Amino acid sequence: MYRVMIRDNMSPVAKDILEATGRIEVVVDNDKTTSNPEALAKVIGEFDGLAVRSGTRVTAHVIENAGRLKVVGRAGIGVDNIDQAAATKKGIVVMNAPGGNTVTTAEHALSMMFALARNIPQATASLREGKWEKKRLIGVEITGKVLGIVGLGHIGRVVAERALGLKMKVIAADPFVSPEAAVKMGVHLVDLDQLLAQSDFITLHVPRLKETENLINADTLARMKPGARLINCSRGEVVNLDDLYAAVSGGHIAGAALDVFPKEPPDPSLPILSHPNIIFTPHLGASTGEAQVNVARMIAQQMAAYLLDGVITNA
Ligand code: MLT
Repeated sequence: MYRVMIRDNMSPVAKDILEATGRIEVVVDNDKTTSNPEALAKVIGEFDGLAVRSGTRVTAHVIENAGRLKVVGRAGIGVDNIDQAAATKKGIVVMNAPGGNTVTTAEHALSMMFALARNIPQATASLREGKWEKKRLIGVEITGKVLGIVGLGHIGRVVAERALGLKMKVIAADPFVSPEAAVKMGVHLVDLDQLLAQSDFITLHVPRLKETENLINADTLARMKPGARLINCSRGEVVNLDDLYAAVSGGHIAGAALDVFPKEPPDPSLPILSHPNIIFTPHLGASTGEAQVNVARMIAQQMAAYLLDGVITNA
């Protein structure tokens, strides 16, 4: 029997799929204390597979102690909570489930765009305080506005398709997409500078990489069109929060919507959290019932295929 540990409140569908093979024993451990790498390192030696979402950090120390671990599965897209270099060095396969939450995350970015354009969170808070602030909460229309998508991968493409249906003009910056491929999507490919200068709304859909960390900083914010609005449902490290706070406070940027933070959850005393023109969600990009079932099913099937047949369907 192989043994797999499932963590981070993954949909029970993952356990069902692995156990249905009859050759995999599953331990579900949602205990927050064992998502600490020190604690996880103490128990990981008993497992052939580890399935996680974003709550568990699979550090080099965990990997060092993973005597028989063969595969780490990430039920989601970003594998930045897994030390891939350490895993690869030890011959441990790291796989993710990128298709499972694409639509859900794209829908969240678009929800954030609407909420930002029409001040929906601020209006809810104001009404709860017994106010009726129609004048203060006047918004902007989406129709005819330029949406700049940074990163035209799985999620960026769904955002583009939906935004075109909303009658937005869609431009995108992505060094890995050809202008011809973009044209087929109805998107005009530009470089980052052009995107910053032309967009009314900018939405980020890039992975966390050395090249994307701090991509939105004082300099890139200053190059944005005055009155632009920023949406980040990618990774927190892509945006410099101090610089964003300064740009919105100074009035050059009209507002921002953030789903992700460099440290999650963020320190509640962070000044940006109380800025009236910046709205937030607690990393809900992939949080729909549908997406969580999809990613759990996909990662369980992929892990079973690898453990039982040595087949890698996505890594
Ligand atoms: C992902 O990488 O799949 C999303 O950010 C969702 C998550 O981390 O929970």
